Amino acid sequence: MAASKACSSSAATNFKVFRGTFVHSTQEEALVILEDALLGVDSTGKISFVEKGPELEKVSAKFGFNPSAVTQLSPQEFFMPGLVDTHIHAAQYSFAGTALDLPLLDWLQTYTFPVESRYSDLEFARQVYTHVVKRTLRNGTTTACYFATIHTDASLLLGEIANDFGQRALVGKVCMDRNGLHEHYKEETQESLDETSRFISELIKRKYPLVKPVVTPRFSVSCTSELMLKLAEVARNNNLHIQSHISENKDEVALVQELFPESESYTDVYRKHNLLTSKTIMAHGCYLSDEELKIFHQTGSSLAHCPNSNLSLCSGLLDVRKVLSHKVKLGLGTDVAGGYSPSMLDAVRRTRDTSKALKIQDPVHQTLTWEETFRLATLGGSQALSMDDQTGNFVVGKDFDALRVNVAAPNGPIDLVQDDGPKVLLEKFLNLGDDRNILEVYVAGRKVVPL
Ligand code: GUN
Ligand code: FE
Repeated sequence: MAASKACSSSAATNFKVFRGTFVHSTQEEALVILEDALLGVDSTGKISFVEKGPELEKVSAKFGFNPSAVTQLSPQEFFMPGLVDTHIHAAQYSFAGTALDLPLLDWLQTYTFPVESRYSDLEFARQVYTHVVKRTLRNGTTTACYFATIHTDASLLLGEIANDFGQRALVGKVCMDRNGLHEHYKEETQESLDETSRFISELIKRKYPLVKPVVTPRFSVSCTSELMLKLAEVARNNNLHIQSHISENKDEVALVQELFPESESYTDVYRKHNLLTSKTIMAHGCYLSDEELKIFHQTGSSLAHCPNSNLSLCSGLLDVRKVLSHKVKLGLGTDVAGGYSPSMLDAVRRTRDTSKALKIQDPVHQTLTWEETFRLATLGGSQALSMDDQTGNFVVGKDFDALRVNVAAPNGPIDLVQDDGPKVLLEKFLNLGDDRNILEVYVAGRKVVPL
């Protein structure tokens, strides 16, 4: 067995073993609860076994660790998979919690583009990017798919900071070669391509184990046909992820139709420019038709559902149930700062709120269960980012990306008044918990929180 080989002899000194409750999701079951389980993490950060607690003697003999070195969780504690933020604008963290009074295009023009223009200043970038990486990690985001800005050096700095703090990340230098909303915040087409190549080669050269570049045409409104076609080529040649925005707001959809009159739909614009691949993640998708969702399914592209942003900017209500019925991969995103909260627990809650709002509008709508929402925030996100071979749940051979949660954390936000079982504890944490309940965060087996 490969896993036991990886932890043999000298590596065994770095072996970690935990005993207690583990909760996670699989493709078949939105919620799997493993009570009194034993989970081993090898020196490379991979899960080497998931076994039953009472079999400690046998398991310790097989894997060569001392039973007394096992870390025992308390009854109010559990491990869950790390949260996956499939869409977050690191640069917009500086104004998170403000500027939520305008619809998308006005919001970009009035608040967002002026702030993003500042990231030629590397000191400002360092400050904001350090804050956003630390804040998201403390809130349990083990994987983040980031938009930076058009500035290559600041985008590289974001990659460096994520690596330094041990967060798994996709980092995108934003590409935009037209901007009718803010003339000064854009690049020439060739410049955007050259800088994208510089960004990719420099980031790859640094060999950060968990931080990779993602090709990032901002959205069809701010990219010419030539830029989109050539960025698709860059992604293909380097086997990279692609991220962008789609069908977020009705005015934006109409503008895209005006800019690309020959295309059948917003999705068709991206398809014609070869940007829909099995490693593409598109944010929002509130107004996608069934035909468009079929294209997502055929191409294997995925959606990032950003409910806080969709509500805050009055963009729309994504029908997640419909997306899932088309077998389109979907994860959750904070979309800071269109979404005001950097916490994925907020994304979980807003996902449920949105689903319930849809039910208020249409009583036959089948709301998402909290267990389904939990899966979307963990395994769903890793599938949406095509990283589910490495992370997303507690399967032997995957990296150990995990949160150690104490629902009864002292001075925390949750009061327990009875002996709740693990299922109730998880539901309470998802609905009431915050970073005070997240005692430890692990990414690829490394403890990255406490910071
Ligand atoms: N569409 C294009 N750019 C953006 C952005 O920064 N935020 C959101 N929410 N939508 C966008
Ligand atoms: Fe966004």
